[in-house]
Amino acid sequence: MNAFSTLPHTSPTSDADRIALLADPGFGRVFTDHMVTVRYSEGRGWHDPTLGLRRPIALDPAAAVLHYAQEIFEGLKAYRLPDGGVGSFRPDANARRFNQSALRLAMPQMPEDTFVESIRQLVIKDRDWVPLADKGSLYLRPFMFADEAFLGVRPAQSYLFCVIASPVGGYFKGGKEAVTLWVSHDYVRAVPGGTGAVKCGGNYAASLQPQLEGMAEGCDQVLFLDAVERRWIEELGGMNIMFVMRDGRIITPPLNGSILPGVTRDSLIQLATEAGHRVLEQPYSIEEWEADARSGALRECFACGTAAIITPIAEVKSKHGGFVIGNGSTGDVARKLKENLINIQYGRATDKHGWLTRLA
Ligand SMILES: Cc1ncc(COP(=O)(O)O)c(C=O)c1O
Repeated sequence: MNAFSTLPHTSPTSDADRIALLADPGFGRVFTDHMVTVRYSEGRGWHDPTLGLRRPIALDPAAAVLHYAQEIFEGLKAYRLPDGGVGSFRPDANARRFNQSALRLAMPQMPEDTFVESIRQLVIKDRDWVPLADKGSLYLRPFMFADEAFLGVRPAQSYLFCVIASPVGGYFKGGKEAVTLWVSHDYVRAVPGGTGAVKCGGNYAASLQPQLEGMAEGCDQVLFLDAVERRWIEELGGMNIMFVMRDGRIITPPLNGSILPGVTRDSLIQLATEAGHRVLEQPYSIEEWEADARSGALRECFACGTAAIITPIAEVKSKHGGFVIGNGSTGDVARKLKENLINIQYGRATDKHGWLTRLA
C-alpha cells in the first residue's frame, strides 16, 4: 500500500472554538477536524490511505452495509502524557480484535500496522484535540463497512475503513460514581455461535430495546444473561463485569464465545493478579450474585471497558425484584485497580507490560 496522502483542511476549528468544546465534551458528541480513510476492493486490496478533513460519506443507496449490516468497529483512547506527548493503550490488541471481527463478518483482514498507523496519523494531525490528562482523553473510533452497491446476500467486494476521533470526558451523564443495572430476562445480547464475541454494529442495535426498558426502570445499563439457560451472567451492553468477593477473589465470566473479550478486562485480570488477587474466569449465575450480595460474601462489583474504565455497580434490578451491593459507592479494590490502570494509560506509572504506545 502507498504512504498516506494528506488532504489540506480548508477551515479547521479555531483555537478559541476548540478550547470551548474541550471544556466539557461529554461523550461522543464533539469531533476533531480530520479523519482517516483507507479503501479496499477485491483485486486491488487495501489502497488510497488518506488523512483528510472529517466530512460526510457519500453512499450508494444499495450499499451492502445499509441492508445487511456488514460493519465492524473498535474503540480505544489516546491519552495526554506527562511530557505533553500522546500515547495509546494496547492499540495492537484492538487491531487483533478488529481482525477477529472482520473474520466473523467475512470482511478483509486489515494489517495490524496499517490499523495502528491510521490511528497515529490522525492523532498527530489532531493532537491539539487531546484533552489535558485531568480533563479526559481522545476516544478513537476505527470502523469498516461494506460499501459495494449490490443487493445479493454475499460478502461485499469493496469496503471503506475509517478512523474518527472524539475528545471525551466521563461516559455517564453527570459523572455518576456508581450505576444501577437492569437485568434483561426477556432479551439476550448474543447466542452461542453468534456474533457476541466480536464488535459489529448489529450487536449494539439489538441491545437498544432492552436498554430502553432498563432506562424506563431508572437503570443506567443493561446486564445480559446467557441465551441458553438464562441464568449465567455475561456482560453489559458495552462493558464486561467483575465481582470482588470478601476473601479477595475476583470472579469474571469466562470468554465463552458470546462475550466481547475486553482489552480492559484482560488488563485488569493481569493487574489484579499481580496485586495478589485470585482471579477466576468462571461462570457466575444471577442466583449466586443475589445470594452473595445479600450474605455479604460479595463485597464489590464493577463494570469495565475503555469508555467508562471502571464503573462500580451499586444496585441491580429486574422484573423479579432487586438488590444492592455493598454500600453503593466505589469499593477499595475497584478504586485501586482503576488508579493503577489509569496511571499506566496516562504514562504516570512504569509500563512494565509494554502496554503504552507513543503516538505523538
Ligand atoms: C459489549 C462490550 N463488552 C465489553 C467491552 C469492553 O471492551 P474494552 O475493554 O476493549 O473496551 C465493550 C467495549 O468495547 C463492549 O462493547
